[in-house]
Amino acid sequence: MRTETEHTIYLKDYAASPYRIVSVDLDFRILPEGTRVISQLTIEPQETTAPGTPLVLDGDDLALGSIAIDGAPLVLSAYAADTNGLTVFEPPLRRFVLETEVNLKPEGNTKLMGLYRSSGTWCTQCEPEGFRRITYYLDRPDNLATFKVTMVAPRDVAPVLLANGNLVGEGDAGDGMHFAIWEDPFPKPAYLFALVAGDLGSITDSFTTASGRKVELAIYCTHGKEQQCLWAMDSLKRSMAWDEKRFGREYDLDIFNIVAVSDFNFGAMENKGLNIFNDKLVFAQPETATDADYEGIERVIAHEYFHNWTGNRITCRDWFQLCLKEGLTVYRDQEFTSDERSRAVKRISDVVSLRGAQFPEDGGPLAHPARPDQYREINNFYTATVYEKGAEIVRMLATLLGEAGFRKGMDLYFERHDGEATTIEAFLAVFAEANGIDLEQFKTWYLQAGTPRLTVSDSYDATTQTYTLKLSQETLPTPGQPTKEALVLPIKFGLIDPNGSPMAWGGVSGAEVRDEMIVLNGASAEVTFTGIANKPVPSLLRGFSAPVNMTTNLTQDDQLFLARHDSDPFNRWQALQDVGMALAVDAINGKPWSAEAAKALSDAFGDTLAGETLDDAFKALALSLPAEAQIGRTIGKDIDPSQVHAVRDDLLKAVFGPLALPMLRAYRALASDLPYAPDAASNGRRALRNRLLGLLVASEAAGAASLAAQQYAEARNMTDRLAALGASAVAWTADAPAMLADFHARFAADPLVYDKWLAVTASVPQDGVIERIRTVLADPAFPRTNPNRLRSLMGTFAMSNPTQFARADGAGFRFVADFVAEVDKINPQVAARVLTGFRVWPMLESERRDAAKSALTGLQSVNSLSRNTADILTRMLAS
Ligand code: TRP
Ligand code: ZN
Repeated sequence: MRTETEHTIYLKDYAASPYRIVSVDLDFRILPEGTRVISQLTIEPQETTAPGTPLVLDGDDLALGSIAIDGAPLVLSAYAADTNGLTVFEPPLRRFVLETEVNLKPEGNTKLMGLYRSSGTWCTQCEPEGFRRITYYLDRPDNLATFKVTMVAPRDVAPVLLANGNLVGEGDAGDGMHFAIWEDPFPKPAYLFALVAGDLGSITDSFTTASGRKVELAIYCTHGKEQQCLWAMDSLKRSMAWDEKRFGREYDLDIFNIVAVSDFNFGAMENKGLNIFNDKLVFAQPETATDADYEGIERVIAHEYFHNWTGNRITCRDWFQLCLKEGLTVYRDQEFTSDERSRAVKRISDVVSLRGAQFPEDGGPLAHPARPDQYREINNFYTATVYEKGAEIVRMLATLLGEAGFRKGMDLYFERHDGEATTIEAFLAVFAEANGIDLEQFKTWYLQAGTPRLTVSDSYDATTQTYTLKLSQETLPTPGQPTKEALVLPIKFGLIDPNGSPMAWGGVSGAEVRDEMIVLNGASAEVTFTGIANKPVPSLLRGFSAPVNMTTNLTQDDQLFLARHDSDPFNRWQALQDVGMALAVDAINGKPWSAEAAKALSDAFGDTLAGETLDDAFKALALSLPAEAQIGRTIGKDIDPSQVHAVRDDLLKAVFGPLALPMLRAYRALASDLPYAPDAASNGRRALRNRLLGLLVASEAAGAASLAAQQYAEARNMTDRLAALGASAVAWTADAPAMLADFHARFAADPLVYDKWLAVTASVPQDGVIERIRTVLADPAFPRTNPNRLRSLMGTFAMSNPTQFARADGAGFRFVADFVAEVDKINPQVAARVLTGFRVWPMLESERRDAAKSALTGLQSVNSLSRNTADILTRMLAS
């Protein structure tokens, strides 16, 4: 396999640069033919830099036009420049200004890193290493500099000119050109640089901070979409208020701008004072956006805004520390949503996605620590582990320290490290210091890959009235980490007495127990409770207080008891999941469920549906069986996804079939004539109603398929319409093809709604889906350069359609591998991301495993794979 470069970067090799860039003056002359960039970098040697130490700047795909130091052009022998970098052999050993000129072709930049054009708008994406595609630079997060940016562009195609910080000048530049000058007073790493030039509409608003500073807010977008930005603006203002209230953090510039663009590799980007967003995370109106879209917008607007303190004011020393900003900022956005909506519902949904995305990563060939110690391609480390497990680690810290202790640590973090580029060690040190505790062992969470298994069994001794919990933990080897250490596991728990109320205990001995939390920090421990008059049922790992896979000796009866009586809503939900999981796994292992067992679960679901104290959103989550992928992972090896699909389908019919009548009644009662509103209560109502519809269709209840067709046709918002379409498509009801065709006819012209059609099309588990996707791709008008389109179609197929992707005949694997090879030439980040869908392959049964391996080795023989794709492929095949 030929790759761009094989070299690996190690954390242990980190060294400060011998030079630092202290300020940057950039001059962009933006024209449709190309963009000229003149950069003046004010550079200083470090105190310890020896004379004659070369200055090595990063570059990527750059062509140097001219170069000078302090105004004097350099002779050819004084420097070496190629597309990958610029070396000045003997720079002055004092402060100097290096001036370079490069010419860029943003139009042809399909990688969408650096300066590119999206629907005519010039925009940038610099994290993590895009700035080196704009000019030669020390493109590393530990170089903080102030930026001044001058932009000159034709007024007709680019009336709007934006960059970071404050607008300090603007005016006419003659010949139909105009200019704007932006200055950002806060020193920042280059990855936070951004500019936008284009013909955009906008909405404006303002926010007054706690200390009375008035901040001008604006969201820029394609003309005509302004009214679809109102929800994003509302979310922004709530985020700003929340960060003041919850973390004491105020916004620090006079302007905060957001720009929505159509071509974007990720969700959004926290550039200082100028966030750039994938437009799917900005635009919302009830007819075209679902409740999930509204929630996603609120969450990501908050996330990027929160980065202003956790990421921008305090940034990362190097990219190994990525979870310093990402894990912490995800934790903060999770807390925001929990405070704005329902904490229990948010926790359950976050755990569903953790198990759906992070656990499979952590248990497969791409497993890596939340803080990796090596990488070949940093773009491949924007992962569920860095983001979501990173957030879980911060959450455990908050659980261990308590709210006040956690806040003390955060306050010290902001106080001590503001304006710095720092590390995980420094982050942990503030919590240790502020709380007078030791976090050495806790740090292992950042260094060790793999999801720990927690095993708990209980026993009761009536004669001594003692109750004992035996706990043990184990983490299986992961690539590069054959042996594992014990982690610190905060295990929140409660004991419930036989009549369903919380049980107190006389004394407790064994492992560390405080309040209602066991802290397990060794391989195993025993906790004994005294003064226990009856055998309790334990509620363990409440709120999912540690990201582990837990197995217990609880019986189905115990679990169903918890589902009814636990005061912890997470564990009520979990108990139902556990019962469903046990029935499915046993059946796959040749022990079909008994009629009584299925009835008991069915009755518990029935009670949940009828429950008067439970809110709709919770019920919607509770009325479900574990996902196929999760059942597969619990089985752990020789998985046959078709069998998992079939068994889950049967179980669904067995437990929800008998509930058809109450479900239908509830479905009808939940209908609402009110206009669409995105609040938590209305959202919950729709979620439950649509969940019931999905269950009715999937369990083939009489009349359910036509009920779905009717809901589809009569829907007055996209949430209801898409739910009906999705339920019908997955079950491939008689109406499904016509509904898909109708949806296409209605919405294909709106790219973000077309994405929903693509995703539904790609997720149909029945045969024929590959042919239908091929037809879509065969259309020359299908936009191959747009990441949203590609991910909706192929990302969905590879990640969310296990039966067809992992077909026994290998057709799904080959299809995805061919696609990856093709798209790798256009956008390596998208290609590498789709390729990660293969990560389940080592766990599949042998025929599918062989088929996957041969598709992967076939891809290996493709010439000139990008470093992104080659890196994933190498790791994927190493296992
Ligand atoms: N920092 C961004 C976030 O967390 C992530 C991001 C945006 C990104 N664009 C990217 C990462 C491009 C890699 C490549 O919100
Ligand atoms: Zn982020």
